[in-house]
Amino acid sequence: MPESGGGGCCRCCCSFIFTSGLTALFLWLSLRTTSPACALSKFYIPLNQTKNQTTLEFELRLKNTNKDKGVYYDPINVTFFDSPNRSRSIGSSTITKFYQGHKKRATKNGTIANIDRDELPGNGSTAFFWVDLATSVRYKILMFKTKRHKIRVGAQFAVNGTIIKVYPKDIKLKSNADKIRSYCGKMGVFFANFLVLDDARFWTYADD
Ligand SMILES: *[C@@H]1O[C@H](CO)[C@@H](O)[C@H](O)[C@H]1NC(C)=O
Ligand SMILES: *[C@@H]1O[C@H](CO)[C@@H](O)[C@H](O)[C@H]1NC(C)=O
Ligand SMILES: *[C@@H]1O[C@H](CO)[C@@H](O)[C@H](O)[C@H]1NC(C)=O
Ligand SMILES: *[C@@H]1O[C@H](CO)[C@@H](O)[C@H](O)[C@H]1NC(C)=O
Ligand SMILES: *[C@@H]1O[C@H](CO)[C@@H](O)[C@H](O)[C@H]1NC(C)=O
Ligand SMILES: *[C@@H]1O[C@H](CO)[C@@H](O)[C@H](O)[C@H]1NC(C)=O
Ligand SMILES: *[C@@H]1O[C@H](CO)[C@@H](O)[C@H](O)[C@H]1NC(C)=O
Repeated sequence: MPESGGGGCCRCCCSFIFTSGLTALFLWLSLRTTSPACALSKFYIPLNQTKNQTTLEFELRLKNTNKDKGVYYDPINVTFFDSPNRSRSIGSSTITKFYQGHKKRATKNGTIANIDRDELPGNGSTAFFWVDLATSVRYKILMFKTKRHKIRVGAQFAVNGTIIKVYPKDIKLKSNADKIRSYCGKMGVFFANFLVLDDARFWTYADD
């Protein structure tokens, strides 16, 4: 900036600070990401059968909560436990990786076969189960793919008699870290996203 006089440098400096402030704010706004929302929408495990093995069926709903960013899901591990303390797993299933555009919703089915009925609660009583979902996601920001972010969420749910999920609504899967992140995270995200930018590589169409 060609400016004569002693004030020129100072003005230039101020405008530099102002511009970098605005740029940082803009970057923060455009690089901020939120985790997808995950819910268990169906769970069915017939216990009133006379066979000694049974098959579990479930359905998950996954929603990209970002207004303008896509989400690349790695394979999603879904594991069911027969009690909330997660001491014994009933079985697990993997949902293949997929891409989800901004604000899109997805419904994913899965089944787990050959579950021993002896190891499950009786067919007449209400029982508590636990579901765990583990995966990693990368966000697509304009032409960049961010680095992988781990997602691990879960929830307890009750089932009755025969055995169908008791709640009529979807069961939201939550992370223990969510509460901490929502508040302290506000500023942390700003710095974290700059680190992400370092790691981001150019996204090309040849990639998929
Ligand atoms: C529980 O399952 C047995 C078969 O294993 C069946 O005879 C019985 O009627 C079932 N009870 C209920 C309440 O569904
Ligand atoms: C088990 O219960 C379901 C739902 O109540 C019912 O539709 C099905 O016929 C039952 N099966 C047996 C073998 O009792
Ligand atoms: C099912 O139960 C019967 C009798 O309870 C037993 O003989 C059979 O081996 C069991 N089958 C399996 C696959 O566990
Ligand atoms: C977990 O819970 C089940 C049922 O409530 C109980 O039988 C089991 O002992 C518990 N395990 C641990 C390690 O607490
Ligand atoms: C999930 O399963 C239900 C019934 O089992 C079926 O109607 C639905 O089309 C399936 N959805 C997907 C995405 O496979
Ligand atoms: C999912 O399960 C597979 C096989 O057990 C494992 O290699 C992978 O690391 C798991 N992924 C996550 C995110 O836990
Ligand atoms: C289990 O829940 C289903 C759906 O809410 C209901 O239709 C059924 O009567 C319940 N069964 C028992 C044994 O409570």
